[in-house]
Order: sequence, then C-alpha cells, then structure tokens
Amino acid sequence: MRSSHRRGRRLVALATAVAALPLTATLSQAAAAPPAPAPAPYALVPQPVSQQAVAGAGFTLTAQTRIAVLSRDSAAVGVGTYLAKLLAPATGYDLAVVKDTRVPKNAVVLDPDGPKSLGAEGYTLTSDEHGVVVRAHGAEGLFRGVQTLRQLLPAAVESRSEQTRAWTVPPAKISDSPRYEYRGVMLDVARRFYPVAQVKRYIDEAAAYKINTLHLHLTDDQGWRLAIDAVPDLTKVGASTQSGFTGGSDWYYSAADYKEIVSYASSRFMTVVPEIDGPGHTEAALASVPGLNCDDKAKAPYSGFDVGISLYCLEDGTHIGNTRRFLAAVIKEVAKLTPGPYIHLGGDETPQATPEQYAAYVKAATSAATGRNKTVMGWHQLGQSAIPADSILQYWGEDDDRESIGTAEETRSIREVRNGVAQGAKFVMSPSDHAYLDMKYDVSTPYGLSWSGYVPVQRSYEWDPATSTAKPDGTGAVVPAKKIAGVEAALWADRAYEGSNALPTPTTRWPEPQDYADYMSFPRLPALAEVGWSPQSARDWNSFRQRLAQQGPRWTAAGIGYYAAPGIPWPGVVKTVEGAHSVETGGKALDNPGGSTSDGTEPVLWSPNRGANQTWTFTPQGDGTYTMLNKSSGKCAEATGGAGAAVVQRTCDNQTGQRWRITPADNDRYTIAAAGSGLLLTAASATNGAKVTQQPDTGSTLQRWSVD
Ligand code: ACM
Repeated sequence: MRSSHRRGRRLVALATAVAALPLTATLSQAAAAPPAPAPAPYALVPQPVSQQAVAGAGFTLTAQTRIAVLSRDSAAVGVGTYLAKLLAPATGYDLAVVKDTRVPKNAVVLDPDGPKSLGAEGYTLTSDEHGVVVRAHGAEGLFRGVQTLRQLLPAAVESRSEQTRAWTVPPAKISDSPRYEYRGVMLDVARRFYPVAQVKRYIDEAAAYKINTLHLHLTDDQGWRLAIDAVPDLTKVGASTQSGFTGGSDWYYSAADYKEIVSYASSRFMTVVPEIDGPGHTEAALASVPGLNCDDKAKAPYSGFDVGISLYCLEDGTHIGNTRRFLAAVIKEVAKLTPGPYIHLGGDETPQATPEQYAAYVKAATSAATGRNKTVMGWHQLGQSAIPADSILQYWGEDDDRESIGTAEETRSIREVRNGVAQGAKFVMSPSDHAYLDMKYDVSTPYGLSWSGYVPVQRSYEWDPATSTAKPDGTGAVVPAKKIAGVEAALWADRAYEGSNALPTPTTRWPEPQDYADYMSFPRLPALAEVGWSPQSARDWNSFRQRLAQQGPRWTAAGIGYYAAPGIPWPGVVKTVEGAHSVETGGKALDNPGGSTSDGTEPVLWSPNRGANQTWTFTPQGDGTYTMLNKSSGKCAEATGGAGAAVVQRTCDNQTGQRWRITPADNDRYTIAAAGSGLLLTAASATNGAKVTQQPDTGSTLQRWSVD
C-alpha cells in the first residue's frame, strides 16, 4: 500500500533517525549573525514596511463615530460598510458609513484617492485623538489598511458578542505595501469537502492577514467538486466520494455555490484560482466519464488514500481527442464562472505518463485555458512541457532539491523549474517543507503527514522566497527574483483525521473541515502571510513570535481553534523550567541521535519534532540546578572535561557533572551552564548534526536556548 506517501518523494520516519553528518561549521561562523531589528511598536502581523508610535492619546471609538469615505466609489464605500459590520458585534455600535468630501472629526476616514505610488494594495494609516485616516490608491489598499486597523484595536474586537470596554486605537503612523503581488492559500476541497459556509469563514480568516488569493483544489482522485453542466456525471458520480467517505449526494459546489464563493472572496479583495488537476489525480473524472479510460469503461469511484494511481488515457488519437474535448468543455464553464485571470491545470504526480502523454495533456489543457483568455497556472511539473510564456508555475520542492542545484545530479523538480524559467514562466513559491500546511507541526500533531518533515511555526516563517530555488548558501537561484510572483500556503486534506499516522478505522474522529483548517493554519498561515507581505529586511523570528503571540487572544475571541504551538510566548501561559521540554537554538533541537541508549552518546542539533529523543526532562536538584534527562534513553546530559569538551549522556548519578544552571536570557531564551565549570551548552552551528559542546559565554545565539 502506498498510502504513506502522497506528493511523496521522501518518506520521513516518524521518530527521527539521525545520521551523523560531517561537523564542519564552527562557533565563530555562527556567532556572526546579523543583529535583530528593533522591536516593533505594535504587534502587527504581517509586519508593515514602516510604523511609528506617536505621542498622544489615541482615538477611542464611540457609538457616534462615523466611517467617512472620501469618495463616491462604490468599492471604497463597500470597504466602509465591511468595516462597520466587522466592528458591530463586539462593540455593539452600528456605525454610520457616510460619504464625505473632507476629513471630519470623530471618524474613521477611508480615502481611496491617495497617491498612485501606493500601488494597488499599499496604504498609509495615521491615528491620533481626533480619528483614524486610512489612505490608499483605490479600494483594495483601503481593505488591506483596514486589516491593520483591526489589529490596532483590542483583541476583544474579534468577539462575535458584545464586549464592554474602551475601543481605543493607539496613536500611530504606518506606511505599508506588499513585497509580492500574489499571496495565496490553497484549500483541498477534493479530498475533504468544505461546505460553502466553511470556505467563506476561511476566506475571512485569511483576509485578516492580507492573503489575496484563494486557490481551490477542486478535483482529485477522491472527488470532483464543481458542477459542470455539459458533464453532469462529474458531480453525480465523481462527487459521491471523499478520502474516507462514500455515498455522498451533495459534496460539490453548484454553479450558484461557486459564484457565491467567488463573490464573497471578491468582497474581501481575494481572487479565486480554480484548479482542475490532470492528467493524474483524475480518478473521479475517470469514474464519471467512460471515454477518458483506455478501455472506455468507467472506473469505480475512489475514496482511498493512495497517490499516483490515475491518468487520463492519452495512448492513442481517439482518447487524446476525448480528453481534449472533455477539457475544452470543462474549462469553458470554469472560465465562465471565474472572473479572476487564472486557471490552474495541476500537472503534479503522474508516474505512469510517458513524456508524450504528458505533453498531450498539457497541450490540450493549456489551449483550452488560453482559448478562454485565462492565464495558465500549474504545479512546477508543468514546466517539463511546452507552456504559454505568461504561465505561472507553483514550486513545491523542498530543501533536498535546493541541495542538488549546481551538482551533477539536479533533481527532476529543479530541471522542471529550469525548463519553466526558460519558457518565461513566473513562479509562486510553496516549498513543501515550509509552506505545506498539511505537514505536521511536530510528533504530537494529530492530523496530516510528515513526508516533507515536520513544519513547526519557525520553519514556516524562516525562509525567503527569493532563495527557495537557490543553493543552500543562497546563491545560484534557478528562478530569478523578478520572476517570483509570490507565495502560497497549501492546505492539503488527504489526512484530515485524528491519528493520521495510520489509516482511519470506523471509530476514527474526523473533525469538521473548518476545524482541521483552523488547527493546521493557525499559527502557520499568518507566518506565511508575513513571508509574502513584509520586506525580508523587516522579518525576524524573535520579533515575529512576540507579535504572533498577541494574535492568540484574537483567535480565541473569533473562535478559531488554533494550535498553541510551543516556542511562542502566548499571553497567559506561565512557563516553568521544571518538566519536559524541547531544548532549541537556531531553529534546531537538542537531539539524542537515533534515540541511542548508550553511555557516552553525544547529543547533536536536529530539526525539531518533539519526539522522545528530543524531549529533555528538567528536574530541580535543590541547589538551583537541574538534571536534564532524555526521554528516549532515560540518561542524563553530562558535562565532560573543560572548555570545548563534548556533552554526553550517561546513566543518571546526580553528581555535579550532570547538574545544569538554567538562567533566563533575552527573548525567552536561557543559558544552560555546567554547574561545575560554568561553561555554557553551545551548538557549533544551526545545522542538522551540529555538535554540542561547553564553551565560555561569547554572547552567541547558539548559547541561548528556548526551553518549551
Ligand atoms: C502536490 O503536492 N502534489 C502538488
């Protein structure tokens, strides 16, 4: 059974088996990290381009406050109405939205006639005791600015019931615009069907973080989710299954449903990208349309968990013709229902297709799309065939691909990307080991998969789209910076149930799709939103996690069931050093390699997963020191020798060598000093396999550990 891998070129064992790597990096290299930017005055996500706290009292909303739109433009007035509705439940105010010609007092002013230099989405926001002014060049920029205004108000503003408190916007001066024009999120409504109301809810959640594109993965092996008039069986037959479910009759969007989603998204300045995946991931179509199969027999509807099982028949002229006519009919209707410029044609995971068959699909699909004046999008595999020069490819490779760049053995993905670049394509970056929201956060995550490794929040945050197709040292980017359209977070749903390390059973608990989406997206979607919006120079993990923590109460107020991920200083969560922890520095965790039970094994750094071999129990010894016991071995961390000497694990004896002094440092970090020598637990670098020794305090961040 292949169920353990989807989109899977890499199988990752759930307990990390750690291979020893060459230990080349030195402490002095690591200590040369650039200084962190100054802390931001306000906890905004994504971080604006510039913000200043200004002196003064701030502006307190009252029932008499007006939302004044300095324009007759209906879209701008629409943003005013949106803001009034947003504020109504928690404040209890029914704020008047008025068209005005000048800036009145006691108002939130929305001015869409700001300078063109602000661009489509840029805005400025100023607030003082008289009111708030959001200025943009058009309604879209106002909408983005309103999301910032929302975060300047108390968290309780997100509540759906009336709260009694002062609604004060602190005095501020903000100027902002996005790094990338495309900032998307993908919902896999094919494996797991999200009812319209749940899609709309998710649109609102994403729009709060300035996401501007909703990619709907509408078709896959397990379901076809959009009614097509010309081919009614696609939803009569092809929508009767989901991953793990059979017998459905309404697991699809009618044209009216789809229009409702598109129009709701548009009211949140979000473009819908419909994906009709092919030539693989097509079992639902093959179950609905006999002529798409080489034997002209419909397949049985599929509700399983395998990947790479299906292919349109592209073996002979007759069947290529069938596929071409089918795609033309489907894409004609999808194009008609979709006001946005894009149609996504999939193209991923087609193990059985010959290059000729794959090319026949790409030709049929791309000509149907361009014939309807749509810009082609596709997974980066589409680059292996001829595509229109203005296509946008979605890169979903991982660090293994980057490591192959410039070597004799570049991965297939990198070659496909090169081919796409050569044809003129632009790229949206969704590296699976940073941007796939269905990857588990860590070993404790009940849902999802881990074939691209675990993706804790820090990993979803700490990457740069500009170097996501570059060598590990950041040079040699295969996709040039000017060809990067943006970033997309992808929430697949092939394992949207509890206990997803195994196949589901009749007693498996399946959360509502929206609850799965909340848990996997929050807090990682806001991290990816900042990757897409904020300048790289304004991004810093320590600043981000502090700002992110302040979003937690907003999600609680809004009823978003987020994962209170470790390493984020969530308000109200009291931290103690005593107990079991992941001990991390530089985004890596202190790891007992392979869960060794031998005396003398030296812990190293490894990608965090919160597994037993990365769990260290701190036990107070009564003299202000602690022992650190590894959960997989039951052995204690021990200091050997003097400066530069290794740290090892050994049978616990509670002697001085196994006692550690844990002292708070900046940013919720700690130094961990050997009780005997005072030397600090020190990582040689922030790479997998890095050696951990005892060193004098150099101030290095690799001597400052989070203990969460
Ligand atoms: C993919 O993850 N198969 C695009």
